[in-house]
Amino acid sequence: MEPNTAPAKLQFSAAAQAEIKRLLTHYPADRSKSALLPILHIAQAEFGGWVSPEVQDLVAETLNIKPIEVYEVSSFYTMYNLKLVGKHVLEICRTGPCMLRGSDELTEHLERITGAKVGETSPDGLFTLKEVECLAACGFAPVVQVREQYYEQLDTPEAVDAMLNDLRGQIHRPILSWEENDLPNSLKNN
Ligand code: FES
Repeated sequence: MEPNTAPAKLQFSAAAQAEIKRLLTHYPADRSKSALLPILHIAQAEFGGWVSPEVQDLVAETLNIKPIEVYEVSSFYTMYNLKLVGKHVLEICRTGPCMLRGSDELTEHLERITGAKVGETSPDGLFTLKEVECLAACGFAPVVQVREQYYEQLDTPEAVDAMLNDLRGQIHRPILSWEENDLPNSLKNN
């Protein structure tokens, strides 16, 4: 008899399922698609920092919507990564105020230090560089966002190097609020 080699079906962890269940209580039962953006965030955090077609299919199945309805949203917003990324995704703001305060030089410095161009991942797999539009922290330009963390006033090579060293020192990725183990029992999967 042939061994069963079919890959295991993707599944959300119990903690992620509990958070999805909690999120869905915010919307009428026939409007669950409204939870698509936060659920894509959960999926991205859960499955290695990007949303593969398989992961997006799982999101569609979870919300009982068509996969195309997920694809059209995930491909519209820059915060969703559609291909494999490094441990840290550096979202570099390139809009006017950050550009005037040196975002071009910041990007060049990051490319030189990490060995990755914008849109690429460094050879050590640690950093993916990505350009994004205004991060709403213009008063502290130039700015880089890494997940929930903002690094601001990166207008000197020293400030950029300090950010990279800080990120290199993060052995574990930051804990997201929905991963905390303090969900009420009613929302936990038993
Ligand atoms: S222009 Fe960069 S944060 Fe607004």
